[in-house]
Amino acid sequence: MNPVSYGVIGAGVIANYMVPAFTPGGGSVAVAVADVNPEAANKIAAATGAGRIYADYRDLLTDADVDAVYIATPPYLHRPICLAALDAGKHVCCEKPFALTQAEVREVIAARAGKPHLKVTCNSSRFHCSGTARRAREIIGAGDLGEVYRVHFEHITGASKPGTTLPAWRNDPARNGGGISFDWGPYDLDWLSFVLGRLFRPRVVFGTLGNYFPLTEQRVPPCLDVDGRLCAEIICDGGLTIHWERRAAEHGPARHGIEIRGRQGGLDLAFVPMGQKQQLHHYAYQGVEELVETVLPDEVPNWNDTMIHSIRDLTTAIQNGTEPCHTLEDDLRIHGVLDALHTSAREQRAVRLSD
Ligand SMILES: NC(=O)c1ccc[n+]([C@@H]2O[C@H](COP(=O)([O-])OP(=O)(O)OC[C@H]3O[C@@H](n4cnc5c(N)ncnc54)[C@H](O)[C@@H]3O)[C@@H](O)[C@H]2O)c1
Repeated sequence: MNPVSYGVIGAGVIANYMVPAFTPGGGSVAVAVADVNPEAANKIAAATGAGRIYADYRDLLTDADVDAVYIATPPYLHRPICLAALDAGKHVCCEKPFALTQAEVREVIAARAGKPHLKVTCNSSRFHCSGTARRAREIIGAGDLGEVYRVHFEHITGASKPGTTLPAWRNDPARNGGGISFDWGPYDLDWLSFVLGRLFRPRVVFGTLGNYFPLTEQRVPPCLDVDGRLCAEIICDGGLTIHWERRAAEHGPARHGIEIRGRQGGLDLAFVPMGQKQQLHHYAYQGVEELVETVLPDEVPNWNDTMIHSIRDLTTAIQNGTEPCHTLEDDLRIHGVLDALHTSAREQRAVRLSD
């Protein structure tokens, strides 16, 4: 099968991690790179073997050799570049967050409506790669837990090292949509959408947000103007309730775990392999016996495969004429929840999502 030829737009930190996605032999190659910073573009071109470098992404989009684009610019540029790419007839893999608002996702859906052969995905789907997540999805989809009524998703991470600096866009909600909510939120919600499948139909969101703050004089997070913690209760159509919590850089230990509870069984698992063994625990009472715990076999995800999963998935979809594992419908749901979370936190009220 012919490899899919990609144009890389935005050659910063994450694009460098994505180089293995464009190594010959994997089904996808990079033929062009666009970045306003020529040094950054040159580095990715040298690492991937891409032959053409553009300062303006619009020139890359006129390149007839480019089948698909990988968009890795700061988030406020995702919408215009995505729309221009579809207009130019290119498939799209966009970094997370896919957009800044749900209204922006609707614009992309409208733009794609006349070109349904073009595939669009978002790298918030990279954690679908986890064997644990796939196994949990199968178990839930098969109805083995009975009616799933509760999910508790909690992820708490430590503080950045003193002296850490980040690009200015990361501290500006107008350019990134928000802090941890837009940086990690799309991954969390995409994972929930993947694992829960048709059960993930968010209808009401009540949430709170809080900004990062200095921990000590020496240990000051690099972004103080954006949220560093979120907590939300999500009520889905059908009755499932989800507690979603993410916090970073606080006076307390890191902790992560996800509990999924059904009327006939429960699952405990972790979201990403952050130095701990990722295991899938199944729990059930059987008759009068005490609670039975079974550790189910699963595939431990490999970090390199996780990073490039969405490009691999899009490439397969283009080659086979199928849909990627993440679609614009997922982006609609994800950004519906993010919009609602921010409104809820600002106005201190529960927010109902429209269809
Ligand atoms: N850094 C990470 O670990 C990481 C991980 C996963 C996803 N992401 C996502 O990837 C995206 C990029 O993040 P990053 O950390 O690589 O940012 P970055 O600031 O390191 O890189 C962004 C690149 O985009 C370029 N750029 C800016 N305007 C441009 C334009 N008009 N045309 C072409 N290029 C332009 C910049 O020059 C820069 O090289 C973000 O959406 C982020 O959320 C980042």
